[in-house]
Amino acid sequence: MQWWQCLYDIRFKEGWREPEEVTRSQVDFLEAALGLTKETSVLDLACGSGRHLIELAHRGYQDLTGIDYSSLLISEATTLSQKHQLRITLSQGDMRDFDLGRKFGCVTLLDVSFGYFDEGDNEKVIGQVARHLRTGGLVVFHLFNPHNLAGLLGRKWIPWNGEFLLMETAFDPVEAIVAFHTIVVSKGEPRRHPTQKIRVYSLRELVAMASKAGLDLVRVYGSSVEPRPHLNGFDTQSREMVCVFQGRQRSEGT
Ligand SMILES: C[S@@+](CC[C@H](N)C(=O)[O-])C[C@H]1O[C@@H](n2cnc3c(N)ncnc32)[C@H](O)[C@@H]1O
Repeated sequence: MQWWQCLYDIRFKEGWREPEEVTRSQVDFLEAALGLTKETSVLDLACGSGRHLIELAHRGYQDLTGIDYSSLLISEATTLSQKHQLRITLSQGDMRDFDLGRKFGCVTLLDVSFGYFDEGDNEKVIGQVARHLRTGGLVVFHLFNPHNLAGLLGRKWIPWNGEFLLMETAFDPVEAIVAFHTIVVSKGEPRRHPTQKIRVYSLRELVAMASKAGLDLVRVYGSSVEPRPHLNGFDTQSREMVCVFQGRQRSEGT
């Protein structure tokens, strides 16, 4: 089994949740950076338990769709949306290979939901994004800043639902892969999680891949939680690399 098939279920079962205020400010950012309106159709790829879609639905967005590989997380998102009587279309699926039979005004890949596979499969994800995007529609890739990995690397102790998580992060500069090795340390036996391995793309690499799929770079931001995008530049100090691409007019048959 690959790490991405089970790690997020394990984290969810062990109680990991993003703080709600982070989700709210990320949605503030998306609205400001993309100029979303309540009518914009949004596809959140790798939506997890749907935290961004649920926030958008609370704000009055009408046409929301989410896909995630994890049946557990999709079922949690479905339960939450039903509880709050929100209309969100959710389904289990693989971001490399899915067909929703329609196009969207906006596609999001949030919280580093890209770079999980080999080069060919990462390209397939971009192809699927482009296929589901309207001409002129916008895509957001919310990624690590490849020029500022130093803050991620090394050992960190993280409080983990009454226990502690020891995270050791390393970067392989030959493969351009960041690996997160994690162990939960508790009173009982320590539990090792599957190692998360994420291919880190430079902006130029990503622009080249996206361009092949018919997506053109519009803007890059340095953070996804700053609601004033014009103050939110991307440089070597930024924590994140948040890239906005636009769908190019496609010629017949592509
Ligand atoms: C870092 S989490 C981000 C979740 C969500 N975007 C958020 O911000 O809360 C990455 C998500 O990618 C999903 N995922 C992993 N591999 C996938 C695949 N092949 N197809 C679709 N989703 C996948 C995981 O189940 C997980 O929910």
